[in-house]
Amino acid sequence: MPIPENIIDQIQNRTDIVEVISRYIPLQKAGRNYKAPCPFHNEKTPSFIVSPDKQIYHCFGCGAGGNAFSFVMKHENLEFPEVVEMLAEKAGVKLPHLTSEKKELTSLANQLYKINELAVSFFQESLARSAAAKDYLASRGIAEETIKKLRIGYAPDGWEGILNFFQKKNVHGSFVEKAGLAISNEKGGYYDRFRKRPIFPILDLKNRVLGFGGRVLDSSLPKYMNSPETYVYSKGRNLYGLNFTRDFIKKQGYALIVEGYLDFIIPYQAGVTNIVATLGTALTVDQVKLLKRFANTVIMVYDPDEAGEAASLRNMDLFLGEGVNVYIAELPKGFDPDGYIRKFGADDFIKLTKSSKNLFDYKLSKLSSRFDIRTGHGKAAIAGEMLPTISRIENAVLRSNLIKKLAEKLSVDEESIRTELKKVKPDYTMRVYTVSTVEAKKDSKSAEKMILALLFEGGNFIQEVRGKLSLEEFKDSSIRDIVKLVLDISKEGKAITPVKLINYLENNDAAAILISEAVNLSETLSNKEKVLSDCIAKIKKDNTKDRLERLQDAIKAAHNSNDDGLVTRLVTEYMELLKGSSV
Ligand code: CTP
Ligand code: MN
Repeated sequence: MPIPENIIDQIQNRTDIVEVISRYIPLQKAGRNYKAPCPFHNEKTPSFIVSPDKQIYHCFGCGAGGNAFSFVMKHENLEFPEVVEMLAEKAGVKLPHLTSEKKELTSLANQLYKINELAVSFFQESLARSAAAKDYLASRGIAEETIKKLRIGYAPDGWEGILNFFQKKNVHGSFVEKAGLAISNEKGGYYDRFRKRPIFPILDLKNRVLGFGGRVLDSSLPKYMNSPETYVYSKGRNLYGLNFTRDFIKKQGYALIVEGYLDFIIPYQAGVTNIVATLGTALTVDQVKLLKRFANTVIMVYDPDEAGEAASLRNMDLFLGEGVNVYIAELPKGFDPDGYIRKFGADDFIKLTKSSKNLFDYKLSKLSSRFDIRTGHGKAAIAGEMLPTISRIENAVLRSNLIKKLAEKLSVDEESIRTELKKVKPDYTMRVYTVSTVEAKKDSKSAEKMILALLFEGGNFIQEVRGKLSLEEFKDSSIRDIVKLVLDISKEGKAITPVKLINYLENNDAAAILISEAVNLSETLSNKEKVLSDCIAKIKKDNTKDRLERLQDAIKAAHNSNDDGLVTRLVTEYMELLKGSSV
């Protein structure tokens, strides 16, 4: 739901970041700026700075940063539109009325929420009447209290249970179908999707009912039946139970991730309250982003077979991409969290999760048992799976440490790992640890950041970048996206300010951080024209170096396969490139 840009500008203009932030934390005047201990990480000496001139904040400790909107989003765990609404009201800006199409969709969503809410009451009443269902839930160890809290119900046997229920309320079958509760048949009629199954409602963070999952009472198949994708439910975008556990997760600082309904319910009931379930599907970026609003560390508690599979190991790299620390807890063979807690209790379960391995070590040990680490092919296979994980670690020191570890494990030299690593193209860059400026000065990433900073100087600087660098030359995809946006906006002749840019990027936390970093960086620069040309040269040089290295590898490969024609062509290209560069 994009809110018109001019409205956001209006709100921005009438909002003072100092005033907004001091609603949450006491600020202390420090020269032109204000400072405070950072609310986003633990610290004693304040490194959190708010600039009234620039209307942005930045923490030199943890790297958090952004404008008034992003601060409230982060502090209150709200979405961008919610914050806009909030600040609009305070600023006395009226938000425009929704267009009729949007109104319709909003009202469709609201209708579906209503239908789902009614469905919950229907399922709950059916559960009260079904001894078999109550017995089943009791046999799984789910207490009355838990049933109530999680709003568990039962879909009775038969084809038109919920349809009749809705008919009496004048809700047409087509709407029941839109909510995912009924399926249409060839004759234009409908039948109940969920039959003879205990039902687990899936709620969002506002406790609205999005969809349902239902389990068979016996061992028939399919074991689970779930709501299809509907206008309000998308399975890759939600995490089961997060509405109940978000505050516990925030307080503990980490979340346990399990797969199944029961694997959430039984631990939760036993007092393991910082937990969510993915409901058996591969984790998505949306889910990671959702969870990241509450904790920076996760422990995946999967059964050993599944967690060890190459696909799920790769999937876990997603967390690194979002700067979340990942640990993996392995249950003994044959156990899932539900079964484990029922047999050994919650204390043992928590102990087990605390002895989890980090993703890198876990992955390495899994791969070492899968491939023969003594053979060349085995080593290559292990490296092939480990390199993408390493490439997602942004911090140079940390990365270097992992490279060393991998080289030792494979008994190869570090240089060959580094060479291979250069061939890995991560699809996005990661921030696991913030790189200190001193450290960053050496790499081309910092040159890219510097350029971003200089773009805020406007006019000539923008022209210079546009003329001398192409977007592909930026290695960091987040920076590239922001640069592209700046160039696009300036082409339209509009003014660019950091605050505005952050709003353009809506709720993209990583981008807000980069921008606030860049602003702080630009303050430290003196001869800006010179810095710009140095940075452009540095980026070009690094790119050429990369290409030369890649060519070298290609030449080696062509040589090994005795392709003389190819060797000649590649060598010519290599020489040309070398001639034109100062590498
Ligand atoms: N799942 C599903 N459809 C299936 C099987 C599984 O949607 N046919 C999802 C469910 O969310 C389920 C999760 O994947 O909870 C994990 O599946 P599984 O481990 O097979 O089931 P459990 O959760 O252990 O179920 P139970 O303990 O009830 O047997
Ligand atoms: Mn189970």
